[in-house]
Amino acid sequence: MYKARLKRRDLLSGLAGLAVAGLAAPFILRSDFAGSAEAGNAFVYPTAPQPPAGADVLDVSLTAKFRSQQFLPPPAGPSEIGGYRDMPGIQVIRMQHGQWLRAKLVNNLTEHTSIHWHGIRLPNAMDGVPYMTQAPVQPGEDFTYAFQPPDTGTFFFHPHCNTVEQYGRGLVGALIIDGDETRPSDADLVCAYRDWRLKPDGSFDAMMTDKGAATAGTFGKVATMNGHLLPMRQEVPANGDIRLRILNLDLTRIIEIGVEGAEAWVIATDGNPLDPVKLDSWKMGPAMRLDLLLRMPKDGGQKVQVFNYFAAQPVLLMELTANNTQLDRPAFTPAILRPAQIPVPKIDGAEQLPLRLSAASAHSAKAPDLKLPDGEAIRLADALCLTTNTFWALNGQAWPGRDHKVLPSPLFKLVKGRSYVIEINNTTPRIHPIHLHGHTFQVLSSSANKVVPHLSDTTLVFPNERLKVAFVADNPGDWMIHCHIIEHQETGMMGYFRVA
Ligand code: C2O
Ligand code: CU
Repeated sequence: MYKARLKRRDLLSGLAGLAVAGLAAPFILRSDFAGSAEAGNAFVYPTAPQPPAGADVLDVSLTAKFRSQQFLPPPAGPSEIGGYRDMPGIQVIRMQHGQWLRAKLVNNLTEHTSIHWHGIRLPNAMDGVPYMTQAPVQPGEDFTYAFQPPDTGTFFFHPHCNTVEQYGRGLVGALIIDGDETRPSDADLVCAYRDWRLKPDGSFDAMMTDKGAATAGTFGKVATMNGHLLPMRQEVPANGDIRLRILNLDLTRIIEIGVEGAEAWVIATDGNPLDPVKLDSWKMGPAMRLDLLLRMPKDGGQKVQVFNYFAAQPVLLMELTANNTQLDRPAFTPAILRPAQIPVPKIDGAEQLPLRLSAASAHSAKAPDLKLPDGEAIRLADALCLTTNTFWALNGQAWPGRDHKVLPSPLFKLVKGRSYVIEINNTTPRIHPIHLHGHTFQVLSSSANKVVPHLSDTTLVFPNERLKVAFVADNPGDWMIHCHIIEHQETGMMGYFRVA
């Protein structure tokens, strides 16, 4: 079912002998080899605090596993769908702001895995990037994530290795942190969009193609909301205030959300509240979230429709029907959510960091092998959770690079507590959703589009666009920065920055 992958157990012990004392991640530069191998310094992953005694903790158990499911209607056969529990549909973890989450991941897959909590500003040790923030969780092993989410909002979680296969086949869930509403909505709906690479017989098609990886990505053929075929249909109270938490959980596809039949307002982006903005339409790359608030029509039977306009023909994603509940309401104004407590960057005088998105200098470059001191050679791409083809680069550096530096150095070394502006310059003919781990940034300005100022952890950058984002580097550790079109990420458009 998976691409053939080599055993990683030996690799890890090999890496341990090579790592440099005090380094927060197993990043081995060629220059580090000689000294550190003799020194025999053991590599240490970062650690994070556990919930204090008396803390309000939500315990969840997440068993990563494939299950046979009748996903497509017959005559299609069952599909082998990945997930973290024995139930079809999207898994939603819902908790109150202030609670801790303690999630025990049990790996019942045939290869290693981890969970990345996308958009959560958590301690580095809980970020779920194998080889960087934690040891990979091997088949049969478990790992417990514990953290107190600092922000309210709409988030999600997914593996961070062989992501195109694991996440692509279903290992993903939504994480909702409640506590931001100043006026409760009458319905609060999680609406998780994604496609599936399923063939008509129910089996999976190749998850990744060179042609797709080198262009806009390989698209799925079966579009779903919350794991059910489109459109999603839901009855909600007539005249009610409806909150839609839209997540683009596709690995590839950009969608553009528009609403017909009611006036909808954008109340949060990537989980972060903003002063409500009337929705015209809103483009969402993979991993992006959009919270909308709308008032249903007064009469039972009336409908509100949500469309994806980023397609040759508009695609109906969702249809809300007003039921006969009579809600007596004053005229609609969108309620403002409690503001996010994200550190505010000082833009004046902030250091500017250029980030150039480009094609890799040579296509189909094979990753070099990592030679361990005992002479064993390990496919580098395997160790780093990448495929062996390289199509994309960040600041001219593909990951893995083609030279004999075994691992890249950080794209940026940032000083904890300082403000930074990243100018993302897309020199490719494709759109890229760029994601930063561990930090939430302000989207400031664009050379191409009018920007509604908002907070984000993943932002779309269009061809020839220069987009400026700003943030405070307040979270120490090594953090990934990558495109969230997973095929782009796995073929080079990935790097990391260090905050110390
Ligand atoms: Cu959802 Cu590294 O990403
Ligand atoms: Cu991309």
